[in-house]
Amino acid sequence: MTRHRDVQDFHDRAPGYEAGYRGRLHADIVARTAQLALARCPAPRRVLDVGCGTGMLLRELARRFGGSPQLVGVDAAAAMIEQARALAANRRPGARLAFVRGVAERLPFGNGAFDLVATTTSFDHWADQRGGLAECRRVLAPGGLFVLADVCSPWLAPTLVGTRRDRARTPLRATRLLAAAGFRSVEWHRLYAVIITAATATT
Ligand SMILES: C[S@@+](CC[C@H](N)C(=O)[O-])C[C@H]1O[C@@H](n2cnc3c(N)ncnc32)[C@H](O)[C@@H]1O
Repeated sequence: MTRHRDVQDFHDRAPGYEAGYRGRLHADIVARTAQLALARCPAPRRVLDVGCGTGMLLRELARRFGGSPQLVGVDAAAAMIEQARALAANRRPGARLAFVRGVAERLPFGNGAFDLVATTTSFDHWADQRGGLAECRRVLAPGGLFVLADVCSPWLAPTLVGTRRDRARTPLRATRLLAAAGFRSVEWHRLYAVIITAATATT
């Protein structure tokens, strides 16, 4: 059985996740990711956030969007989903937000169900990054946009030792995995400091 090693920790952290310095850092990364996603995909109708945590990205997108997009978050930690549902209660009227418990490696959605799939600071925690990316590709509609934001930089090569030796923490490794999953037109963008970057890719 696949071991989802960091999920219990996130489950425990969920109630205070958006507080303090770390909460502000995640909010900033989320805001920059939303800006990047909307610059390339200005009016998505169906959006999936993989490893959505407390739902910050989808709330941010709901705030920025026109129209009534369908916004769906999936996360492995039950308490994150509970928090996301509670915090979404103050959403912009018209936006349709839903949160589902599940893992990136087995997304509970049909093929081509979304035109924008995004993930922020979750990929590094996935038990099977290759399998998770294949699932993101599967649920993305033809012509859709994938945005992957996380710790990924050539500067992180020295961290690829010990229990993190299999992680795709450099653009070279992550680009290889994206290509293996069937993504095309991979481009890298600096997002935050030098180590948080985002890849955009299409089907
Ligand atoms: C650092 S938090 C990021 C949350 C949110 N995306 C954000 O930017 O604030 C990482 C999240 O990924 C989730 N996660 C870890 N492994 C996962 C997996 N295999 N599938 C889905 N979610 C996962 C955790 O439960 C946690 O909520």
